[in-house]
Amino acid sequence: MQRTLSIIKPDATSRNLTGSINARFEDAGLRIVAQKRLCLTKALAEKFYEVHKEKAFYDSLCEYMSSAPIVVQVLFGNDAVAKNRVIMGATNPADAEIGTLRRDFGQNIERNAVHGSDSPENAEIEIGFFFSQMEIVE
Ligand code: CDP
Ligand code: MG
Repeated sequence: MQRTLSIIKPDATSRNLTGSINARFEDAGLRIVAQKRLCLTKALAEKFYEVHKEKAFYDSLCEYMSSAPIVVQVLFGNDAVAKNRVIMGATNPADAEIGTLRRDFGQNIERNAVHGSDSPENAEIEIGFFFSQMEIVE
């Protein structure tokens, strides 16, 4: 069993898609073991996406991620990191498989509905960015 960090991004929370997205996780056998809705400051978004700071899209991404509420969550289950990446689909909604979150709910490569950790190691770092152990109930 494994944990991964998921974020329902501003484009999705503002279209009231939290419940629809959560149903996809639960239908796929992932358990939402922690969840909260919050607003990132631009500085916090910059810290969270620090690995991308040299990328051309970094400033716009951080501006967008701090533009409206997000829902951060810990998903728990068998092979959760890889499983969530499959549920999410490719980064660009236009390239994502039909039936994935990004294809069905994303608007463009930036406003792509959800974030998911890319490795178990990064998952633990990203979970620690948002949650204390007491807030995660498996
Ligand atoms: O989110 P994912 O791991 O699939 O992609 P990433 O390469 O880690 O990029 C992080 C986020 O930056 C993406 O989810 C997009 O929101 C955004 N991005 C963008 O705006 N333009 C790109 N060319 C690539 C990513
Ligand atoms: Mg990534």
